[in-house]
Amino acid sequence: MQALRLWTLLATYAVAVGQNQGQKNQECPKLNAQMPEFQKKTVHIKDPERVEEIICGLIKGGAAKLQIITDFDMTLSRFSYNGKRCPTCHNIIDNSKLITEECRKKLLQLKETYYAIEIDPALTIEEKYPYMVEWYNKSHALLIEQGLQKDKFAEIVRESDVMLKEGYENFFDKLSEHNIPVFIFSAGIGDILEEVIHQAGVYHSNVKVVSNFMDFDENGILKGFKGELIHVYNKHDGALKNTEYFKQLKDNSNIILLGDSQGDLSMADGVANVEHILKIGYLNDKVDELLEKYMDSYDIVLVKDESLEVANSILQKIL
Ligand code: TMP
Ligand code: MG
Repeated sequence: MQALRLWTLLATYAVAVGQNQGQKNQECPKLNAQMPEFQKKTVHIKDPERVEEIICGLIKGGAAKLQIITDFDMTLSRFSYNGKRCPTCHNIIDNSKLITEECRKKLLQLKETYYAIEIDPALTIEEKYPYMVEWYNKSHALLIEQGLQKDKFAEIVRESDVMLKEGYENFFDKLSEHNIPVFIFSAGIGDILEEVIHQAGVYHSNVKVVSNFMDFDENGILKGFKGELIHVYNKHDGALKNTEYFKQLKDNSNIILLGDSQGDLSMADGVANVEHILKIGYLNDKVDELLEKYMDSYDIVLVKDESLEVANSILQKIL
């Protein structure tokens, strides 16, 4: 009789331990075993254990503590499709019929010069910074000269080759369903960006866009840009200007940050209370030269990856 009792006790204990372990495993998944998306060749992680720990922290915090801070061009939007480069917000205008051939040529020349500097592995952010200011000033001045009409933007976005990354519907819909704040922080053009996500049907009420917004005259003609310029390498300053937004989200101390540039790493600098932050970086260009740098600064690096699968797999576990 006593032996039976002892056996029952042991069995109950074993089941309880098993359940606990089962639960723990589910809460803190092993990347490759339980998240097959991490087996993709595009995924590069310097310290998988640390990433597991961060994901574990994000899962434990759940929806209540989560917020997303993300770049737009080449992060939410695609870098290429079928071997062809996709446009940034600026390029949607550059390539459109709203621009004269002469102006298009000038914008293209600027892009050739300054994009090479933007991604030059041999230059520091400090060295690149003044060139980015120069690029934006010259490019925005050219756009203003063209007298762009706001009411043509929907059409040029529709006619452009812009595409959001694979899995974007799932990404935005799930975040909206759980009312997770999404801060899109872009050095692109806000008016174009908003039109892209509006046409894609994902500009839900949980999404806030901070970017370079255009200023129009009473006839809807571009006359300048509002506020201070956001370029690729001053997102730190922009982040600090939005502390009011982040203050309202003081309990959302768990962050998933998505970017494609070294400048995007400072997008969460305005968040006062950070418990766990997972930085996911898309590396689209100059992969051999930049991979090490990206792996040192981003927790997860996605090389030439045109999807949001990894982010979605993490959201799947949290929400
Ligand atoms: P992002 O912060 O959303 O990535 O947007 C910034 C991108 O826009 C960055 O990669 C540089 C790019 N850009 C152009 O494509 N054309 C331009 O004329 C300028 C000023 C920037
Ligand atoms: Mg970008």
